[in-house]
This record gives sequence, C-alpha cells and structure tokens, in this order.
Amino acid sequence: MENGNEGLFISFEGNDGSGKTTQIRLLSQWFESCGREVVHLREPGGTFIGEKIRDLLLDNENKGMEPVTEMLLYAASRAQLMRSVILPALAGNAVVICDRFVDSSYAYQGFGRQLGLEVVRAANEKAIDGHMPNLTFFLDLDADTSMARRQASGMATDRLENEEMAFHRRAHDGYRMLCDTSGERIKRIAVLEGDRQRTPEDVAAEIRAHVIGWQKNEPGFNSNSARGG
Ligand code: TYD
Repeated sequence: MENGNEGLFISFEGNDGSGKTTQIRLLSQWFESCGREVVHLREPGGTFIGEKIRDLLLDNENKGMEPVTEMLLYAASRAQLMRSVILPALAGNAVVICDRFVDSSYAYQGFGRQLGLEVVRAANEKAIDGHMPNLTFFLDLDADTSMARRQASGMATDRLENEEMAFHRRAHDGYRMLCDTSGERIKRIAVLEGDRQRTPEDVAAEIRAHVIGWQKNEPGFNSNSARGG
C-alpha cells in the first residue's frame, strides 16, 4: 500500500465549493456503518499548530504573502498533521479521510501560483516522507461554477477564495492535469451531468463503488475492510 500502513488513506480534492464536505460526510458515515473507525481531517489544519498556520494562510489581512511563503506554510501544516495524526491513525487501522492533501499544493501553488510542480514536490518531500493517499477523489466542478456556489452559500470568503478567477481556473486545470498523470490513484468524479448538478447521493454512490472496487483489487488490504454497498 502506498501509505505503508494497515489503514486506508483517502483524500478529497477540488475547487472551493465543489461539494467535498458533503461527500466526505457521506463516505465517513458509510465506513462507520461498515464498522470502521474513521478519522476525518482537513488541510491546512487538523492539529493545534496546523490550525494556527491555517489562520495565517487564510487571513485576508495577509494579502502580501509571497507564493513561496504560502507553499512552505501549507507544507509545514502537512508535516505536523502527517506525523502527529495521520501516521498514528493509519497504524491503528483507521480510515483517514482528508479534506485536501498534497495535490492541493500542486494545483494551487504549482499551477495557481505558477511555482511549478517540481518546486512544490521538493518543498513537500520531507513533509509527506513518501506517504501518499491510497485513493484520491477529485470532485471536478469548473472554477466559475464552484466559486458561484461558494459565494451563494453566504459564508465569508477567505484570502484564497478572494483571489482572482484566473488563479482558481489555473488550479482547476492543474487538477485535471494531475488526474491525467497520476495513474489510478486519483479518481475524477464529475459533479455536473451536462449542465445539471448531480445529486449528492448519486455522487456518493459512485465514490463508494470505486472504493469497493479498489479494495477488491488490493490483495494486501486487511480483512477488516468495509464491504457491501
Ligand atoms: P478551506 O476553507 O479549507 O477550503 P475548502 O473548504 O474549499 O477545502 O481553505 C483551504 C484553502 O487553501 C483552499 O482555498 C485551497 C487552499 N489550499 C492551497 O492553496 N494549498 C494547499 O496545499 C491546501 C491544502 C489548500
């Protein structure tokens, strides 16, 4: 297994407003109904120190933050989360579901900020120490629709969300490119069907089916895995 542990490590990716929160909740509930312990985390954050880094990153007053500073702060939050929460949880056989992981840095800092993939990879090398998710779901919703949804929710917008649309469009294009080059790890899930939005239940069923299929093809996966549907 890619994470080198007994547990299962799943990340969710996509533009702000693509529906990750709902899908993470539904997948967590399903795993729990199958008797698995689920640890649900978010990036940046998920630890005491990481939440402080999150505040720095998302604070609208920090408009002057350099792209490299931003990239390193995301990596620092990730390093803390990886060592103090993710690895212990995986060693304890939990299902770790992370709202964003290193692919966010590739998409937003690599493509959005145009730092390039190699710079982002090098900055994150020590943070993740070779531990990648077993599965990543990319909720594919174009940047304009996701931002419109996010704004319609009426919630306050943070420093990243207040970036120009070109930044969000580059991040979305970046995700698509990562999907094309990451082999089977990243599963693209279309949020729209034509110009209609799929129901959360429909999207959740596709995600569950993919998890079940992955488990069947993973000989090393432990017998305590969630099965059924
Ligand atoms: P958050 O409110 O958690 O966004 P969402 O609810 O959409 O996940 O804010 C996280 C923001 O940080 C989001 O705009 C994406 C950005 N981000 C990066 O730019 N790089 C990263 O490595 C990560 C993890 C997030």
